[in-house]
Amino acid sequence: LSNSSDLFAVLKARHSCRNFDSRPIRPEILRKLIYAAHRASTAGNVPYRFIIVVNDPIKLKMLRLVSPGYSGDSSAAIVVCTNLRVEREITKVDTDRCSAYDAGAAAENVVLAAYAMGLGALFIKSYSETAVKKLLDLPEECRTDLIIPLGYPARDESTPVRARTGGKITYLNKYGAQWKNSENVAVTPGKVETAEESTLKDGIFTLALFLVTSARGCVKEPHVYGPVRLLDAVCRLADLYSKIDAPVADDFLVAAKQKIMENDNKSMVSEDDFVKFIDDLVIQFTDELIRRHGK
Ligand SMILES: Cc1cc2nc3c(=O)[nH]c(=O)nc-3n(C[C@H](O)[C@H](O)[C@H](O)COP(=O)(O)O)c2cc1C
Repeated sequence: LSNSSDLFAVLKARHSCRNFDSRPIRPEILRKLIYAAHRASTAGNVPYRFIIVVNDPIKLKMLRLVSPGYSGDSSAAIVVCTNLRVEREITKVDTDRCSAYDAGAAAENVVLAAYAMGLGALFIKSYSETAVKKLLDLPEECRTDLIIPLGYPARDESTPVRARTGGKITYLNKYGAQWKNSENVAVTPGKVETAEESTLKDGIFTLALFLVTSARGCVKEPHVYGPVRLLDAVCRLADLYSKIDAPVADDFLVAAKQKIMENDNKSMVSEDDFVKFIDDLVIQFTDELIRRHGK
């Protein structure tokens, strides 16, 4: 990115705008807001998030009337929603509220994009879920996460009024250790080689730790993360050879690691391609097994 100062100008300008004038939002501006929403990350790349753009004045008014926290006549609104059935079907498990975080990420993208284009916006959560679902014809299997009213600010709010100051709590490295802006913290570039990983024994311990924490993750995370973690463990196993004093590198394992790393995004893009990749890998391992048995 050539100019990060633009982003920081937008971050500075952003506030909750609750007073809009009646200027409509042009379609090309709406399209950019939609783009911003969909550019936000989603946990596991699971497609359960969707948005509804509301620009019908009557519908907007009705939305406002069922939302005690919705002040100001906005020209449009974007409602960020989650399809709970898709969430359940793909992840198979309770994803620890990830879909709600995903909605927040999309909503923040919309708000920042809005401010970048001279609009005002805010998050609204004080509304009747039942009423909003009915107004938007949302099926039972869907949930609304946030409403974002959008419009041109009715007045210059370059110095936004904030109900409360504070809330800027930052600690350094552990809870309670206050971050001071005067802090001169060096950021260590790249990979840090720590003492625990320098010997074979420590490398094996680190791998065991990875497996134990992954095992816990597999209980709650999307099921596809299980094979991802196991393949990651194969790569880590291959790396352990570098820790043996007299290297007896296993070329097959090193090559397998290379293939796994080259294909590591498949699990997030297409489950079918990912399964095919694992099947191919299993065949290569089986061929190697046969070769090693001299058959
Ligand atoms: C999850 C969430 C829900 C919110 N819901 C409402 C709401 O229903 N009505 C409202 O006026 N503001 C709502 N806000 C805006 C907050 O009140 C506002 O962000 C906060 O007071 C800080 O002010 P600022 O956004 O101008 O920095 C919400 C904010 C968040 C993050």
